[in-house]
Amino acid sequence: MRPVAAASVKRDQAARRLEDEILRIKMEFRAAVEQYETQAEELRASREQLRHSEARLRLVLDSVTNYAIFTVDPQGRIENWNIGAARAFGYSDEDVVGQPIGVLFTAEDRANGADQAEMTMAREKGQSVDERWHARKDGSRFFVSGMMAALWGDRGDLVGYVKIARDLTERTYWEDALQAAHTELESRVEQRTSELASAKASLDSELHERRQAEDRVRALLGRLMTVQEDERRRIARDLHDHLGQQVAGLSLSMQALESSAQEGDGLRVRVRDAQAVIARLDRDLDFFTWELRPPVLDDLGVAIALEHFVREWSKNFGIRSQFHARGFTTARLARDVETSLYRIAQEALNNIYKHATANSVAVLLERRGDEAVLVVEDDGQGFDRTKLTGSSETGIGLIGMDERASLVGGTLEIETAPGRGTTVFVRVPRAFAGGSQSGRKVADEAEP
Ligand SMILES: Nc1ncnc2c1ncn2[C@@H]1O[C@H](COP(=O)(O)OP(=O)(O)OP(=O)(O)O)[C@@H](O)[C@H]1O
Ligand SMILES: [Mg+2]
Repeated sequence: MRPVAAASVKRDQAARRLEDEILRIKMEFRAAVEQYETQAEELRASREQLRHSEARLRLVLDSVTNYAIFTVDPQGRIENWNIGAARAFGYSDEDVVGQPIGVLFTAEDRANGADQAEMTMAREKGQSVDERWHARKDGSRFFVSGMMAALWGDRGDLVGYVKIARDLTERTYWEDALQAAHTELESRVEQRTSELASAKASLDSELHERRQAEDRVRALLGRLMTVQEDERRRIARDLHDHLGQQVAGLSLSMQALESSAQEGDGLRVRVRDAQAVIARLDRDLDFFTWELRPPVLDDLGVAIALEHFVREWSKNFGIRSQFHARGFTTARLARDVETSLYRIAQEALNNIYKHATANSVAVLLERRGDEAVLVVEDDGQGFDRTKLTGSSETGIGLIGMDERASLVGGTLEIETAPGRGTTVFVRVPRAFAGGSQSGRKVADEAEP
């Protein structure tokens, strides 16, 4: 081969190699461009996705308006700020993003390092929860319940913090208002209690005075009745001793006059008429003396005295009567109990005569254990007790009966209705028992 031809071949070969090299580089470049474009596309897609996620997160955060939610970078500067945070703290995004978190704390808490302590706690324990006063942009304070959590990246590195906080000022306001209302209520209750206590004390003392007055009235009444009985006893004795003697004397004189007058003489007839009047007077005197104070009541006891009185009353007013005494044969009760039972029976019988238009009457005096029971029953017209209440025409008989019963610790009951007769029940508990009820002396000897 000629040298010129050989040189040309060599050149051609070098040119081909160069072309191949250029082709290879071109192909590599194209592949690199394609790869780059694919990666750029992927990046665009992930950026788009990220933007989308961020927008969604923003939407979520902003839809939570009752809570302030914001993120803080690892250096403690505010990064993200939702509507709730803007509303609670008064800062807009532009105001606050990039500011240190300390701007949200009160000056004292900032001085104490509370902002840093919160982040430290979130880092070390995962989260920091507290309730404290925070500062608004306008300087006012509000009470916040908050939670700060640390945010960690894939490689375990700190990427920042998120804080969720709620304004408790309104709750605190209502709690304060509730507490104030509670305190006010307590003080009113205390005041009312003390008013009630003093009202009760004055009522108690009034009640005490009233009881004392009642006791005095009762004692006076008892005394009055004793005096009345003594007086009746004295008058009865006087009537019997003087008037009775004189009537007896008069009767004897009339007998003498009658025997001295001639049979058929007009004088004798008049003397006999006078003798009949004197006899009636004698009976009436006897009855009234009995009514006043039968000596037998003191001497032989209430059962015998009442038996006699019922018999005489029946004769005097022409109303049939029965008397029964059970368990009273040898037993005697205290004098005031006997007098009370006697007087109550007497008033009951007087009422029967005055009001009942009865055909017959039964009087029962009975011992039931230690209790003395008196029953006076008539078959008369009865009466309506409710109509008596407050009526000015009412007498004092029933009231006196009641008083007498209660003065000796007993009770009085009346069973009656128009057309159904009337029954008076008196019960004196422990009348036969030993002891000092009503300060009485007790019966001689109780029956078995
Ligand atoms: N056994 C009775 N039958 C019918 N009514 C009676 C009987 N006992 C009492 N009353 C009625 O009860 C009223 C009140 O009796 P109470 O003995 O208190 O008064 P009084 O007999 O009218 O007057 P006082 O007893 O003071 O002389 C009588 O007016 C009478 O209407
Ligand atoms: Mg009466």
